[in-house]
Amino acid sequence: MIPTPDLSHLTSKDYDNIYEPAEDTFLLLDALEQDQDQLQTLNPGICLEIGSGSGCVTTLLSKVVGPQSLYLTTDLNDYACKVTRRTGTKNQVDIEPIRTSLVDGLLPRLHHMIDILCFNPPYVVTPSEEVGSFGIEAAWAGGLDGREVIDQLLPLISDLLSPKGIFYLLLIHENRPLEVMEILKQYNLSSSIALERRAGRERQYVLKIHR
Ligand SMILES: C[S@@+](CC[C@H](N)C(=O)[O-])C[C@H]1O[C@@H](n2cnc3c(N)ncnc32)[C@H](O)[C@@H]1O
Repeated sequence: MIPTPDLSHLTSKDYDNIYEPAEDTFLLLDALEQDQDQLQTLNPGICLEIGSGSGCVTTLLSKVVGPQSLYLTTDLNDYACKVTRRTGTKNQVDIEPIRTSLVDGLLPRLHHMIDILCFNPPYVVTPSEEVGSFGIEAAWAGGLDGREVIDQLLPLISDLLSPKGIFYLLLIHENRPLEVMEILKQYNLSSSIALERRAGRERQYVLKIHR
């Protein structure tokens, strides 16, 4: 059992500015923990989390995999990048947060170099105009079908993943996970549902994606 990362340094003021870990976060953590043996055997060189928020997911990933990997995160919310670094420090994990949208600026340098990729995206169905802010709204506003941010990333996954790379993507029912799996096939990627769970009115899924 991997202990949940220590977030005791974060206050309600921080959570006014960044996403507070919730059931979706914990489902992603459970998926990583469930694959602990496989991820350790993979011996990843570079792990990347998109939309790191509190930094909770990457911190747990580092406890699963070990300190030898490079842990990169992105978030378009500057406050989230700072908090991610603080969470790493609090938990004795080196994390390199990058303020950018999705993976802007990381390709082509990291072409086929990411061994573990994670994203708990803004997945809530909202008006399109709410997508792409730089503040707390960016944590949930997903636009049409909650897919507008997710769909921007799908064409880039194959470029990011190393030959042995695995991508963990959190989705809800409204995002049409089966349709996402079909789109991934167009990029020669296979996927399966690693975990699913009901959280209140949401049906949440973690897709596990690889070549
Ligand atoms: C649902 S929250 C997840 C936060 C954290 N990973 C967790 O699981 O608790 C989504 C995160 O993605 C970030 N985000 C939204 N759109 C993004 C984009 N285009 N590029 C990078 N990060 C983005 C938000 O700022 C937010 O921190």
